[in-house]
Amino acid sequence: SASHLTDPFGRRINYLRLSVTDRCDLRCHYCMPVGFSDYEIPDNWLTFEEIERVVNAFAKLGVNAVRVTGGEPLLRKDLATLISNLSRINGLSDISLSTNGTQLARYAKDLKTAGLHRINVSLDSLDPIEFSNVCGRDVLNKVLMGLTAAQESEFDLIKINTVYSPNTSIETIENLVEYSIRNRFTLRLIEVMPVGNTGRSTGPTHLDRVKKHCQSKYNLVESIDRGPGPAKYLVSADGKFKMGFITPMSSHFCDTCNRVRLSVDGTIYLCLGQNDKYELRPLLRSGISDEDLMEAIRLAVTYKPERHEFNEHPDKIIRIMAKTGG
Ligand code: GTP
Ligand code: 5AD
Ligand code: SF4
Repeated sequence: SASHLTDPFGRRINYLRLSVTDRCDLRCHYCMPVGFSDYEIPDNWLTFEEIERVVNAFAKLGVNAVRVTGGEPLLRKDLATLISNLSRINGLSDISLSTNGTQLARYAKDLKTAGLHRINVSLDSLDPIEFSNVCGRDVLNKVLMGLTAAQESEFDLIKINTVYSPNTSIETIENLVEYSIRNRFTLRLIEVMPVGNTGRSTGPTHLDRVKKHCQSKYNLVESIDRGPGPAKYLVSADGKFKMGFITPMSSHFCDTCNRVRLSVDGTIYLCLGQNDKYELRPLLRSGISDEDLMEAIRLAVTYKPERHEFNEHPDKIIRIMAKTGG
């Protein structure tokens, strides 16, 4: 129907990931290639007006969830203004942000006031040395202050994202679990994906063993509740603590994929693990009508591939994670 987006495999697309910048103030080794500098030029960044127009078209096509990502989205000037404008678009019931948290102490209140519903914060370790080894900057404390500020701003649900690599120790995970229980955060462990040619071997990152360990150590049971995203959850008996596992490598979730991505330069990427894309910027800048914009988005979704091939073709995705927005 006119108000639904369905891909060639019958999947309903209702979740848009919106990368508002490809820049970041951290250098996490699984994300940003060492020495990377080939950023999008500002002339090619969609303006807030252009972004709002595209999101509005997606919303008219039945998308109800928008997640703002990057790079680090809080590096985009006046992000709270964009959020506030997005929150006025009809049909959006879930507006969320994925951030590295370094600037969250400064912005959490404004974001809440602007109408942001949920925040996911990346945090790979509570050990300052380990944090800076993984993320390239010595700013663990800023992230922790950001998380505290988010908590004080009373966001519905705060999730911590931990990328799990073969070097991650079980102590690191346990510390994150206990910190999350204490602070009522949901913790998610993520298998590292080979994206962006970071020049480092990812190695096996299967989470099964870590999952079993945490399940028995913290008395967790499988939850039937799946969120809007790809994570599967364990939950404590009292229901207060949830721990999610995002396993694109060991058990992909493409069958239930509900999303497409819009990059800062106005390109729709149809899959994190494929190169299929559709460029909206030229259309936006040559006076396309709202009707035709919706038609273009419908067409773009027909190019959505069935699934990623990270295991079969680990060298396939050269574009950096910050471009696609995770
Ligand atoms: P929720 O809406 O809170 O469930 O968020 P989310 O987990 O969908 O988004 P978030 O930005 O927190 O991403 C967490 C991890 O999941 C990141 O490593 C993303 O790259 C990964 N991820 C999110 N969506 C997809 C997807 O469609 N495919 C794959 N392979 N990974 C994804
Ligand atoms: N594999 C898995 N997750 C990644 N992220 C960034 N790069 C990768 C990767 N190569 C995560 C970030 C953030 C989320 C949006 O994506 O840590 O939490
Ligand atoms: Fe969807 Fe592609 Fe992610 Fe699979 S890898 S869940 S198809 S975006």
